[in-house]
Amino acid sequence: MKQFFSVRDIDSISAIVKEALELKANPFAHEDLGRRKTLGLVFLNPSLRTRMSTQKAALQLGMQVMMMNLNQDGWALETQDGVVMNGSSVEHIREAAAVMGTYCDVLGLRSFPGLQDREQDYSEWLFKKFRDYSRKPLVSLESATLHPLQSLADVITILEHQKPGVKPKVVLSWAPHVKPLPQAVANSFSEWMCQAKKEGLVDFVIAHPEGYRLAESFTTGAKQTTDQREALEGADFVYVKNWSSYDDYGGILPVKEAWMLDQQQLKITNQAKVMHCLPVRRDLELASDILDSSDSLVIAQAANRVWSAQVVLKRLLTDLKTDL
Ligand code: CP
Repeated sequence: MKQFFSVRDIDSISAIVKEALELKANPFAHEDLGRRKTLGLVFLNPSLRTRMSTQKAALQLGMQVMMMNLNQDGWALETQDGVVMNGSSVEHIREAAAVMGTYCDVLGLRSFPGLQDREQDYSEWLFKKFRDYSRKPLVSLESATLHPLQSLADVITILEHQKPGVKPKVVLSWAPHVKPLPQAVANSFSEWMCQAKKEGLVDFVIAHPEGYRLAESFTTGAKQTTDQREALEGADFVYVKNWSSYDDYGGILPVKEAWMLDQQQLKITNQAKVMHCLPVRRDLELASDILDSSDSLVIAQAANRVWSAQVVLKRLLTDLKTDL
């Protein structure tokens, strides 16, 4: 593996989940693999889970970790080419990424979308520039359109909690929010679930209000509906997440129906387990009567972020060694 940006960077979901669960059973089995290797975690946006779980994963592989909150602690960054830098920006991404590449063997980058220009955000220009200028294997810590470490942890959680011998029905259900959020978690979860469906692991349905469809490139193979009740019937897992509109890009559209999942709505499911990537706004996105019940898998998901990060770093490190 040379980068981890999307499900397209792996061959098989079954295989990577199996490898992640082996690490979970034996976290220090490869504690020498990352010896004398440095991971640089670069954040342009806030994080709790991604920051701590990826650091823990790297330490368990024997790596050293450096963390950089580039927007807060770095020089004001210029990301565009051909600009005379006579304004507020001090350092160009060409030099900044190249320098970090000399300090680190593997890099991770969190870079949220601007939610103003869809074509620009969906081109993933910033992730690609950083990757190309750093010249090091790059892990997405959530990019403009995808959050693969989260999705891998989500798949691990589903396969760990599924009922034996039953192919689970998984529903991605849009939730309300007061702020326009990126589509990245939903795109990514859908992309991974569509691949899991291809591998015969799950059935997958996306439920969202009118005007909230996701980009086709991430949803091919998913059943999609604007009828939340129909989607929830017989569901084994419900993944709750808000996203802003893709069509009316970055917009919050009026929604008449009550889309927040609570215990009442959960009754029509097949005793579904409920998931959310966190952070979650209680009683806005998801009812606290679910979050505080044994139906919630949100803490298990967050805990599995360690194993998703560790299996990805293990694969990147293994390929670093074979390149020598
Ligand atoms: N789910 C997730 O990525 O959490 P953080 O934003 O806190 O890293």
